[in-house]
Amino acid sequence: MAEIKKIGIMTGGGDCPGLNAVIRAAAKRAIFECGWEVHGIVDGYEGLIRPRFRRLQASDVSGILTIGGTILGTSNTSDPYAYVDPLGSSKVKKDVSRRVLCNVREKGLDALILIGGDGTMSSAARLARAGLKIIGVPKTIDNDLRGTDVTFGFDTAVSVAAEAIDRLHTTAQSHHRIMVVEVMGRRAGWIALYAGTAGGGDIILIPEIPFTLETVAAKVNFRRKIGKRFSLVVIAEGARPRGGEVVVKKRIEGSPDPIRLGGVGFVLADQLERLTGQEARTVVLGHLQRGGSPTAADRILATQLGHEAVSLAVRGAFGRMVGIRSGKITSVTLDVPAKGQRLVPTDHPLITAARAVGTSFGDE
Ligand code: F6P
Repeated sequence: MAEIKKIGIMTGGGDCPGLNAVIRAAAKRAIFECGWEVHGIVDGYEGLIRPRFRRLQASDVSGILTIGGTILGTSNTSDPYAYVDPLGSSKVKKDVSRRVLCNVREKGLDALILIGGDGTMSSAARLARAGLKIIGVPKTIDNDLRGTDVTFGFDTAVSVAAEAIDRLHTTAQSHHRIMVVEVMGRRAGWIALYAGTAGGGDIILIPEIPFTLETVAAKVNFRRKIGKRFSLVVIAEGARPRGGEVVVKKRIEGSPDPIRLGGVGFVLADQLERLTGQEARTVVLGHLQRGGSPTAADRILATQLGHEAVSLAVRGAFGRMVGIRSGKITSVTLDVPAKGQRLVPTDHPLITAARAVGTSFGDE
């Protein structure tokens, strides 16, 4: 096994609370315990394609545990296998992976720790097959990555959304309104399910359980009949009516997942207002769910995963992504997360528990 002297750390894809905690854990261990030189890769894969590195000393990663975002910067439009040059006039996607291999070699990086979601991991798997020594660390607020039971960032997003739902409850109650809260999550309903349950949402709509408008309106009307003159609806951005389509906000060319969802909350509020005669308002939480300081749980998970990434590198177990299974730190091959989103099972115990307290999922 070739000795490691120098490693690179990168954060790719959308940012997520806890990224800095991983960078800190991995870099500190690499510097103090392993005696390695650590280089930060700037702006995700962009920094490997148009080489931009930043030497990380222990002092650079000190004091960042609690800070949201990523000190390295990130990008979700710089896939080395389908790269659209941001400075060029052509929008044609090119395979620039050989440039990445050359840049890593020139910089003398013996191994890379790549922190990212399914897009980052699927390119990482290909780069690993092409010869790079890579360890992946999963991140996403959506909690939808295969190969791990939970991702850091999710707990923070749920806490932010739950607090927002609490605040919206009091204003919905005062004005006797329907309040629709749209949360992120792509085509998975983890954030809506957890935040909706934590915030006591009356109706939770997730992509995995297509809803009917009539059922949602009936729940609102029933609540009014029993004296509850307001309703709180938590809807995932990827939720859709039975037989209907998701609401697409925009396309981001060059992104591994170019479809950006958003706006279903406005559509639903309009329809509910028409069907129930009750006033409805919509709040889209958007990127608020991704910003700010990570919760204690996310800081802990991120620290454990950063630590384990270095353990794998020490053992020479490259081509793997660290993760957590039944509370234990483990790892899978890098191609596992690229096999599609991890959705909420419709028999998830939290759905059963929420139904038992009267929450409607818009289906029955
Ligand atoms: O994957 C994280 C996420 O925040 C999704 O929940 C959301 O659909 C998407 O990223 C938004 O992406 P962008 O930051 O490119 O708008």
